[in-house]
Amino acid sequence: MSQIYQQFAEAYSRGSYPEFSKWVLTLLPSLLEKYSLPLSGRLLDLACGEGTFLEGMLLNNWQVTGLDQSAEMLRLAEMRLKQTGQPFHLIQDDMRNLDFDNEFELVTCWFDSMNYLLELSDLERVFSRVFRALKVQGGFLFDMNTLYGLFVRWQQQPVYISQDHEDLFEIHIPSCNYEKSEASLRIILFMRDPQTHQWNRSEEVHTQKAYPMDTIQALLEKVGFQVLDRLGNLTDQSPAQPDSGRVWFITQKPA
Ligand SMILES: C[S@@+](CC[C@H](N)C(=O)[O-])C[C@H]1O[C@@H](n2cnc3c(N)ncnc32)[C@H](O)[C@@H]1O
Repeated sequence: MSQIYQQFAEAYSRGSYPEFSKWVLTLLPSLLEKYSLPLSGRLLDLACGEGTFLEGMLLNNWQVTGLDQSAEMLRLAEMRLKQTGQPFHLIQDDMRNLDFDNEFELVTCWFDSMNYLLELSDLERVFSRVFRALKVQGGFLFDMNTLYGLFVRWQQQPVYISQDHEDLFEIHIPSCNYEKSEASLRIILFMRDPQTHQWNRSEEVHTQKAYPMDTIQALLEKVGFQVLDRLGNLTDQSPAQPDSGRVWFITQKPA
């Protein structure tokens, strides 16, 4: 299993990152309604992370399953979801091993998690396993960083400080490999031990790959999905453009 999102998990949950899930949660009901996708039932959130999205969906009466490869992210998700007092299911696994058949009304995967799949064959494998996991007419919604997102937006600042607190300091250093269509983020963390007050340094390198939007769409259609929309902005629901930093796919398993 990959070693990312271990030390970084706690910093992630303390940072502004979970705001992304909160924002998606506010927009999702209207999106599901607009595209006539299921409004209730069983949800599978791939790469669920620390569980903010699952928590919101659980509180909106969805039956939730979360899958993530990081034990630390899942530990945080479990703590969060237990507080709701409702049943939930968490799985530690690589999403490439997804193995469900005709079980979910909705599958989601947010905040560039699909960009961690560094081979086109892995993307196709996950898409086809999601297709199999969905019930007929179920929806599959996800976002990805685009080529523009990774090679222009990510590279705008050579170094930046993502968090600066009394006990936590987080620095990001981006770089990119055009030949491989990959960009990496070197995340350097300093966290103060609450007992000894000593600073501990750790580092994770997060590599993401971007794929042309047409390639992603062609793969989705190849495994059987109907692509209902390809948005560049979730708030105004405008179509994705070549200079959109992120693309949102709204897809359905047809009847
Ligand atoms: C940017 S975080 C997003 C977490 C959550 N979806 C959110 O919106 O906050 C990326 C997540 O993807 C997970 N991840 C990356 N590659 C994965 C894989 N191949 N299988 C399962 N989880 C993966 C990481 O462990 C991490 O929790």
